[in-house]
Amino acid sequence: MQHELKVLRDALIIQIKDSPNLENLEELRVGALGKKGSLTELMKGLGKLEESERRDSGTALNNLKNEITSLIEVRKKEFEAEILNQRLKEEKVDVTLPARPFFRGSVHPIAQVIDEMMAIFGSMGFEIRSGPEIEEDFYNFTALNIPPEHPARQMHDTFYLPDGDEGERKLLRTHTSPVQIRTMIAEKPPHRIIAPGRTYRRDYDITHTPMFHQIEGLVVDNSTHMGHLKGCLKDFVNAYFEVEDLQVRFRPSYFPFTEPSAEMDIGCSREKGQLILGGGKDWMEILGCGMVNPLVLKGVGLNPDEYQGFAFGLGVERLAMLKYGIPDLRAFFDSDMRWLKHYGFMPLDVPSLISGLSR
Ligand code: DAH
Repeated sequence: MQHELKVLRDALIIQIKDSPNLENLEELRVGALGKKGSLTELMKGLGKLEESERRDSGTALNNLKNEITSLIEVRKKEFEAEILNQRLKEEKVDVTLPARPFFRGSVHPIAQVIDEMMAIFGSMGFEIRSGPEIEEDFYNFTALNIPPEHPARQMHDTFYLPDGDEGERKLLRTHTSPVQIRTMIAEKPPHRIIAPGRTYRRDYDITHTPMFHQIEGLVVDNSTHMGHLKGCLKDFVNAYFEVEDLQVRFRPSYFPFTEPSAEMDIGCSREKGQLILGGGKDWMEILGCGMVNPLVLKGVGLNPDEYQGFAFGLGVERLAMLKYGIPDLRAFFDSDMRWLKHYGFMPLDVPSLISGLSR
């Protein structure tokens, strides 16, 4: 047996050393240590030997088995290292290759303009509030001094929802003004808030989409007057348009929830079909505003002899079109990638808003 083992050992050692690859090594392992391997067979034969020889041969056989196992293991590691090195050599990164194209999204002009406006009003001390887009008749109309049958309701082209079980008629809010009411009911004065958001009207043409955006503003305290309204909005448009000497004018108007009411126009000129802001002989209407109607204050439980304030509402799309020269309102919501690429903004690229304010 001893001799037989020595011959087997020498042969195996050479075979392992000369093995050309992993597959061959695995064959060698099975041939020696597998179920029917040469060493395994010898192990099985031990039982037939005599006691004393069995012990010696058993030990020798075991040692050989361990030796071969570890030799195979070492050789296997060598192969694996070789394969890895080969891969590293073949797959090395070529840093001189041109970079893959980098697709980056852009910020929609509406989102950008709302951010800009929030930054400006934020720096004036306004806080942001929001309200539901599915609104109750009460907040959208009645509490804003637009009772049922009021002619102003006709102007709003409202989308109504089917009547609910509780009788209250729900609708898609036609303006952001209901946030004024919700804020005044939920919080104590003084108020100084703006509320950006989506609004809805049954309208569709070159200057109207059924969904559009407004920003509502509300200031209520004991001493606010029309001069504050004018100063605040003038500062806002100067900062927003970043134009020196923007001409503004306030034209008397009518809204049920403000008294007196006004519309604010900015000076512009139209030359060869191009609109230029600031100076010029023309005027462009940009927002509605006024002093909060005492009836509205009374309705939310505030004493109009004690409290007063102003409010305003502006259309985001219109102000975005004016500032960034976007000609067609409907394109805002067409989701045309070419349009978005052209009019979209780089993420985190906030223009010099605050510098506009301090000018
Ligand atoms: N809610 C008005 C509209 O959608 C805009 C408006 C006008 C809002 C005057 C106001 C305001 O807060 O004071 O036409």
